[in-house]
Amino acid sequence: MHLYLDTADIDQIRKGVKLGVVSGVTTNPSLVYKAGWTDYKSAVQEICSIVKGPVSVEVVSQEAKGMMEEARAIAKWSEHVVIKIPMCDAGLEAMSVLSKENIRVNVTLCFSLNQALLGALAGASYVSPFVGRLDDVGHDGMGLVAEIVSCFDRYGFGTQVIAASIRHPLHCIAAAKAGAHIATIPYGVLTQMVNHPLTTVGIARFLEDSQKAAGKG
Ligand code: G3P
Repeated sequence: MHLYLDTADIDQIRKGVKLGVVSGVTTNPSLVYKAGWTDYKSAVQEICSIVKGPVSVEVVSQEAKGMMEEARAIAKWSEHVVIKIPMCDAGLEAMSVLSKENIRVNVTLCFSLNQALLGALAGASYVSPFVGRLDDVGHDGMGLVAEIVSCFDRYGFGTQVIAASIRHPLHCIAAAKAGAHIATIPYGVLTQMVNHPLTTVGIARFLEDSQKAAGKG
């Protein structure tokens, strides 16, 4: 399973990539706004220069024609760009055309197996079921990830499943068990995955004992 960072924060992306375990980034208009970017193109190009893997960038047009125009323009910003398109009539139409033009698409705001199937049939490279948001309304978000993975396997779809809207480390464990190809996670969750109280205590104890041993010697 690959790990992507779900953020547009450059500092967090630099830190995550430096750890050597982050192979992509996903953004959306809310994350770009939160990171304080006003120039979307500069933000994306800077992110692409750091991560050098797939970087999902979302279109904001509501009509298929507008989505396609936006996607074609954004795709020229960097070879790493993947276009995030929401699942809806206009989005489906746009992704069907764009995937035939070899523009990689990530189906976003995916909340059902039917939506994921449609995305795969439209030629999307990725579908992103939003686990946390489904959990928020009392549905089994990771259950959906497992259903999509199993269905895509059964029919041999090449579309990869990104477990998105990840909120805590247990989601990452569940994503791995569900067979997600990728989990896209906030930087805070990456930090939580690294650390464990017993590791912290163990490091302190080894250091203490090595200092005692050196004192004795
Ligand atoms: O990748 C999708 C993600 O950004 C949505 O997360 O926490 O807003 O549901 P959240």
